[in-house]
Amino acid sequence: MPTAFILLAAGKGSRMNSELPKVLHQIGNEPLFAHALKAGRTLNPERIVAVVGHGGDLVSKAAKAISDDIAIVQQLEQLGTAHAVLQAREALDGFDGDVVILYGDTPFISEDTLEKMTKARANADVVVLGFEADDPARYGRLVMDGDKLSRIVEFKDATKEEKEITLCNSGLVCADASVLFELLEKVGNDNAAGEYYLPDVVEIAWNNGKTATSVTCDESETLGINTRSELAKAENLFQEIKRTEALENGVTLIAPQTVFFSMDTVVGRDSIIEPNVVFGPQVTVESGVKIRAFSHLEGCHVSLGSSVGPYARLRPGAELSNNTHVGNFVEIKNAIIGEGTKVNHLSYVGDAEIGAGTNVGAGTITCNYDGVFKHKTTIGDHAFIGSNTMLVAPVSIGDHAMTASGSVITNNVENEALAIARAKQVNKTGLAKRMFDKLRSLKAKKSEG
Ligand code: UD1
Ligand code: CA
Repeated sequence: MPTAFILLAAGKGSRMNSELPKVLHQIGNEPLFAHALKAGRTLNPERIVAVVGHGGDLVSKAAKAISDDIAIVQQLEQLGTAHAVLQAREALDGFDGDVVILYGDTPFISEDTLEKMTKARANADVVVLGFEADDPARYGRLVMDGDKLSRIVEFKDATKEEKEITLCNSGLVCADASVLFELLEKVGNDNAAGEYYLPDVVEIAWNNGKTATSVTCDESETLGINTRSELAKAENLFQEIKRTEALENGVTLIAPQTVFFSMDTVVGRDSIIEPNVVFGPQVTVESGVKIRAFSHLEGCHVSLGSSVGPYARLRPGAELSNNTHVGNFVEIKNAIIGEGTKVNHLSYVGDAEIGAGTNVGAGTITCNYDGVFKHKTTIGDHAFIGSNTMLVAPVSIGDHAMTASGSVITNNVENEALAIARAKQVNKTGLAKRMFDKLRSLKAKKSEG
């Protein structure tokens, strides 16, 4: 059965106290709405429609950046969840299959639960996802009659007895597209909030010869985010999930609580992550890699058997080949580091390409920026860059070449050459002693007054 998603993301999220629309706040360095979509992707949806409202342009831009197959529709006035879903009708014109309604601010819904919902469609026209709530609070309540879901009552409209029900509405619904829109047309707003309630489709279904049922999931999956405090809790939960996933995938985390992942972080088997490592977006680490303490990585790739840190910073475009060593206080940006090459201490390598088996000495800097343009540095295989070399780009150093330490290299160095670019050393015999004697006698005279 073909599937489509409607992602509700029109709410303002006033309680976030933010200029940014709620669904653009991030966990794991990805906007909230991207998390629900990621789970949904496993169902191979034929279409995805996001309903935006508050900050619609920003949300739509962010959605397009994640994937260009998301259709965006505007809900100009937030008249309720049923009204929101109706806005997607035109965008689903010609679609014949099941629709799943997801929420932009409910990031933890799992693939398994979505699959369970679509499967349950075999037994009923409308499937609602419910959960047993520890504290049902203000959630809508599912009124069951055996396996049948009779209706959903919003907290605001519930009787005292109905408020005793602990089976709550997650908000997620799965139904055949044409059935859903037919039912939605019949939803009114005669209720405590004066809103068009999506949950009303359940009772309307029964009144129109259709059926409804519910499936359940764990409460943690339906966790919604309304405040910064809930956002922080969600980030925490997300990190817990990623850490467990890494451990299960055969990655050693010495102190899991101190390692932070992004949604798209990939770390290979038998890699070891020391304490206090942060993975920003778009990092892939192959197997057998050691990321030592206090390193920060983003937009980079680390190949087999390499060692990074402690205190290393890999920035976007850093590409480390097999068995490289990047040591303490080294920053690498937009640079390819060849196999077995070492950049061990206190260096900046940016906009560069370094071959295999090269050693980059302590304090080496690629001077890549002239204040206006960025320039490239190329270093060959098996080269030796002396400590404290300034490589003023554009410049290239050949294979098996050397630079003398302290050099400021402004011209290309050919293969096998040694470049020395620093003032020639002169030793003055006895001059140090004469200087000391003079200075000390001066000091003695001063203290005599
Ligand atoms: C809704 C359900 C409630 C359920 C709860 C679960 C309704 C009427 N009630 O209540 O049964 O227990 O979710 O969290 O559906 N939205 C729009 N446009 C609108 C209104 C809402 O896009 O006009 C979006 C919001 O941005 C949000 C989602 O729909 O992502 C839910 O809306 P919200 O107002 O938070 O509904 P609740 O009162 O929490
Ligand atoms: Ca809500």
